[in-house]
Amino acid sequence: MQTITKIAELQEKLNSWHKKGESIALVPTMGYLHEGHQSLIRKAYEQNDHVVVSVFVNPTQFAPEEDLEKYPRDLRHDQLKAETAGANILFTPSVTELYPMNFNSYVKVGDVTEVLEGLTRPIHFQGVTTIVTKLLHIVQPQMIYFGQKDAQQLVVIKKMVRELNFSVKVIGCPIIREEDGLAKSSRNIYLSPSERQAAVSLSQSLKLAKAALINGQRTSHKLIKIIVQRLEAEPLAEIDYVKVVDTQTLKAIDRIDQTALILLAVKIGKTRLIDNLLYQK
Ligand code: PAJ
Repeated sequence: MQTITKIAELQEKLNSWHKKGESIALVPTMGYLHEGHQSLIRKAYEQNDHVVVSVFVNPTQFAPEEDLEKYPRDLRHDQLKAETAGANILFTPSVTELYPMNFNSYVKVGDVTEVLEGLTRPIHFQGVTTIVTKLLHIVQPQMIYFGQKDAQQLVVIKKMVRELNFSVKVIGCPIIREEDGLAKSSRNIYLSPSERQAAVSLSQSLKLAKAALINGQRTSHKLIKIIVQRLEAEPLAEIDYVKVVDTQTLKAIDRIDQTALILLAVKIGKTRLIDNLLYQK
């Protein structure tokens, strides 16, 4: 695996693959790679000739009070994790390489960015869609991989790709969890031991909702109540939202008939965690 920091060098390398008609996959990340990221890289490796993994802590998707500065960074760790999962290129550009002086062009997707995460993080998705657009233009992959862990991000990217006619196939991959159910996340390292224990309440609450769903409970407010009760039993957990929504529009629904997303955001101490359950009949 080769680590590349410059756009020009990356494109020169990719050109030879593009010319030969070989397929290229892109797995965008912010690094501090774990098995969640690796599952995306492995899937990309299975389905394509070459895999580019980008590691870039994207400043435009962080609000000033968020954790941009303290977001974990470890290049050696990422090189090892990416290579063992099957990456051919690790693209690790600097901030100025992607955002040169006076940068002021953004890609904005409406509606689905204005709910859920968008309410507490109003500039977040514009940062995500802008950086993903830039990476798509730089790499020009046939396929791009995202985790269901960030369910709203996946919906936003799919909408952008569809509505702005990007010629790339968006692949969503299932959530990878710790043994006790906590969804893997680079941010889990912020949790103290007692917070780490409390964090399991997110996945446990979704598990209770799933059991109720399987037993025929289809009413959103009743499912939400089950989740809220479990979360409220955890003194360190502070609920931001628990919602049952349509998988495409992200609008709240009263009943689950076909497919639905149950999404939650919870603060454990100072760390905000998200998790979700995708229900497919
Ligand atoms: P990051 O949080 O590093 O995540 C990169 C990709 O890994 C995302 O598609 C995310 O959904 C996926 N992922 C993270 N944890 C996962 C888990 N436990 N199981 C499965 N997939 C998981 O998401 C971002 O970075 C950024 O917003 C980015 C798209 C790179 C744009 O900057």
